[in-house]
Amino acid sequence: MKLWITGSKGMLGQDLCALAKQRFEVFESDKEIDITDDFTVSMFIAQNKPDTIINCAAYTAVDNAETEPEFNYELNTKGPKILGEWAAKTGIGVIHVSTDYVLNGTAPNPLREDAPIDPINAYGKAKAEGEALLASVNPNHWIVRTAWLYGFHGKNFVKAMLNLMRTREQISVVSDQLGNPTWTRDLAEALLKIAEKPKMPGVYNCTGEGITSWHEFAKEIQKQALEKKLLEREIPILPISSSEWKSAAKRPIWSALDKTKIKENFNVNVPAWQDSLSKYMELEK
Ligand SMILES: NC(=O)c1ccc[n+]([C@@H]2O[C@H](COP(=O)([O-])OP(=O)(O)OC[C@H]3O[C@@H](n4cnc5c(N)ncnc54)[C@H](OP(=O)(O)O)[C@@H]3O)[C@@H](O)[C@H]2O)c1
Repeated sequence: MKLWITGSKGMLGQDLCALAKQRFEVFESDKEIDITDDFTVSMFIAQNKPDTIINCAAYTAVDNAETEPEFNYELNTKGPKILGEWAAKTGIGVIHVSTDYVLNGTAPNPLREDAPIDPINAYGKAKAEGEALLASVNPNHWIVRTAWLYGFHGKNFVKAMLNLMRTREQISVVSDQLGNPTWTRDLAEALLKIAEKPKMPGVYNCTGEGITSWHEFAKEIQKQALEKKLLEREIPILPISSSEWKSAAKRPIWSALDKTKIKENFNVNVPAWQDSLSKYMELEK
């Protein structure tokens, strides 16, 4: 089986490539193979003949997306469509990574894959259109929605918190947005399970198990980091509301996703978010 992994230098892409190489023949690419360019994509597929594409390339600057509509649209909407079209021409499928931000985030229960699409920011809108276009051009699509990603590479919440906890006397973290923290390695395992036996195309949710707030997430990061000696001292972590945290893009209040479908169809193991955080920190030491 030959896999083409795009966005290979991103936070998810790097972990996914490392795991995938143990089980697949992997063609990896990042910006040098521009997924928004028809000719480039068609040539890459013709030359390498992958059996499946996993698309991790994206524009992920959620706040900047409000003022950079072109980059956001190109990567998050046009890119998946172009990959889907050229994959369809050669009869192969696309596993595409998407986001909880395609939903409005007001439901009180974990959101299933059939929850109404209703993004509340520019990034979510572009990702929602990308999902719809990919689905319309290629029946062999697996759209995997994830949320609150962290990993060894790139900027993310866990790294940002650890840095602040080392340098500040106290920090304030939003306590009224709820969701599922997700380790890139867990998501990568799930994506490879789909790639190994691609069946039942459609939309799938995949995040860590358990619902928490950014504030509780930060407290758990500090607790575990102190236990594992990644931090030397404890600082106060104060809860604040979303309205007190100024950001360009609105964020959903409720982002928790229901993972029943991916567990049943692909036998994906969804660990508790605290357990994954612990494994991540052990390796980070
Ligand atoms: N991060 C999160 O918390 C989160 C939450 C929910 C969903 N997701 C989704 O998860 C996926 C992976 O996210 P991530 O955080 O790993 O993203 P990331 O770190 O931003 O990685 C995306 C990669 O794509 C590259 N890229 C940019 N333009 C490209 C182009 N034209 N052609 C090919 N590659 C290009 C980027 O390069 P540059 O960095 O040089 O631009 C980067 O290496 C994305 O689909 C994202 O929407 C992420």
